[in-house]
Amino acid sequence: MGKSSVVIYNVSKQQYPPTFKIFFFLLPISLAITTFLLIFIYIYTTSRVFANPQASPFLEPATNLSLFDLIIPVSTDNEETIPFSIDNTAEDLFFDLPRTASYAKQSQWSVGLGDLFGSGGNNMNNTEIYHDTDIFLEDYKEMNKSLKIFVYPHKPDDPFANVLLPVDFDPKGHYASELYFKKALVNSHFITKDPNEADLFYMPFSIADLRHDPRIGPEGLQDFIKDYIVNISHQYPYWNRTGGADHFYVACHSIGRIAMDKAVDAKENSIQVVCSSTYFVAGYFPHKDVSMPQIWPKEQDPKKLVSSKRNQLAFFAGQVNSPVRAALLKHWRNDTEIFAHFGRLETDDGEEQLRSKFCLHVKGFEVNTARVTDAIHYGCVPVILANHYDLPFADILNWKSFSVVVHYMDIPVLKKILQGISLEEYLWLQSNVLKVRKHFKWNVPPVDYDAFYMAMYELWLRRSSVRVRLSASKEYI
Ligand SMILES: *[C@@H]1O[C@H](CO)[C@@H](O)[C@H](O)[C@H]1NC(C)=O
Ligand SMILES: *[C@@H]1O[C@H](CO)[C@@H](O)[C@H](O)[C@H]1NC(C)=O
Ligand SMILES: *[C@@H]1O[C@H](CO)[C@@H](O)[C@H](O)[C@H]1NC(C)=O
Ligand SMILES: *[C@@H]1O[C@H](CO)[C@@H](O)[C@H](O)[C@H]1NC(C)=O
Ligand SMILES: *[C@@H]1O[C@H](CO)[C@@H](O)[C@H](O)[C@H]1NC(C)=O
Ligand SMILES: *[C@@H]1O[C@H](CO)[C@@H](O)[C@H](O)[C@H]1NC(C)=O
Repeated sequence: MGKSSVVIYNVSKQQYPPTFKIFFFLLPISLAITTFLLIFIYIYTTSRVFANPQASPFLEPATNLSLFDLIIPVSTDNEETIPFSIDNTAEDLFFDLPRTASYAKQSQWSVGLGDLFGSGGNNMNNTEIYHDTDIFLEDYKEMNKSLKIFVYPHKPDDPFANVLLPVDFDPKGHYASELYFKKALVNSHFITKDPNEADLFYMPFSIADLRHDPRIGPEGLQDFIKDYIVNISHQYPYWNRTGGADHFYVACHSIGRIAMDKAVDAKENSIQVVCSSTYFVAGYFPHKDVSMPQIWPKEQDPKKLVSSKRNQLAFFAGQVNSPVRAALLKHWRNDTEIFAHFGRLETDDGEEQLRSKFCLHVKGFEVNTARVTDAIHYGCVPVILANHYDLPFADILNWKSFSVVVHYMDIPVLKKILQGISLEEYLWLQSNVLKVRKHFKWNVPPVDYDAFYMAMYELWLRRSSVRVRLSASKEYI
């Protein structure tokens, strides 16, 4: 023992010749300099910031930052027109920079199949439409067999029956998803009348209907929700057991986000199944909440879904109600290949989507609109220009296999990105769009793997692993 420590001491004290010393002094320094140079060369050759100053918003003076992106329009529909000046756009657009790096990387879609099949990384190789097909199909069967939901009961003569009970017609419009879900759920085999058997508890108020109810309106929403939760937590024991963690509600209108402001437990603990799923604002938690697609119901399938000749590169139509759309307008309004129409389109936009390769979904007031599901309905590959959008069913579906995600920063090079996608890759994306179509549809009655069953599966993933049994609740909590 003692001997070996002497040996070590001797080694460390050993005298080296001067050249040897210099070598060990210079080696780390020269390595550091080389590494620095390599990094610099890499950044210089790959970054557009150096290559093309015009394309970089960062180099424009970021004066007069606007909080536009943070303001939640409380009393307007996501699609209503609000006059919007396009002069101060570039700065507004890049206000939310935190995730730029990773998103910019993700949006380098010109990388193509090489990257998809090639380099390793976080399941980058996955070319399937699901993150894990086997697990999904297996789990889905289990969910379908075992998931049980208790719906808080309300009588038809309840003064708020109109917002609490399912509608007896086929819902229409922007926020139809909310009503389709309720209609499908209450008639499904997931319902249990026995709360002891329930995995989850559904609070069946409809945010969109409350907003239109003259007794409530946008101003009265928060108090209504607060009262509703006070009521159920007094009348039933379930809310208090978990602080609402095994409860959920469904909202497609973005006002749902502030509707919970006076019911903090509901916002922080309950599962919020919402269309406006942006993780940029507080109040939406991707691991706890569910992103549901906004779907504009369509009467029937387009006739030329598969056979249609898509000879237009990209299509967009919509109001200029956000900095992102203003940037799109600024760069692409006169383009012959990217057809961007601002304002109401006189012709049938379904026809336009059928003849386009890519259909642009561009953030308006909210990250979500029905454009993503419209595109999928018409077999058009969606291009997502909505930073921080937690895409619908993103924890099940591999969005990279059927869409193109582009960061705002890349609007100036949008055409380059889309043209950089090879025909082979495009056909692959488009065939996957046709495969995921069934997940973005409401059916009456619901059909396996449609939007309803997908939402149920998402809920199942979020059910608590701790089952609280009423009879022995103290032991289980
Ligand atoms: C920024 O706002 C100030 C005050 O409103 C105005 O005087 C100035 O011209 C604005 N700058 C730019 C670049 O728009
Ligand atoms: C991706 O595919 C390559 C080549 O087939 C393989 O070497 C690599 O391990 C894979 N990476 C992952 C994360 O599966
Ligand atoms: C799900 O359950 C319904 C109702 O029991 C049944 O008709 C359907 O076949 C099930 N689907 C799957 C994939 O197990
Ligand atoms: C709460 O309960 C009271 C008393 O039964 C009722 O008047 C009120 O409408 C209920 N409010 C909600 C939001 O359910
Ligand atoms: C639930 O908790 C609230 C607030 O602590 C209390 O007023 C209410 O009585 C409780 N409900 C039940 C059913 O015990
Ligand atoms: C588009 O055309 C209009 C009118 O012809 C012109 O004023 C504008 O500068 C053009 N925009 C672009 C981006 O080329």
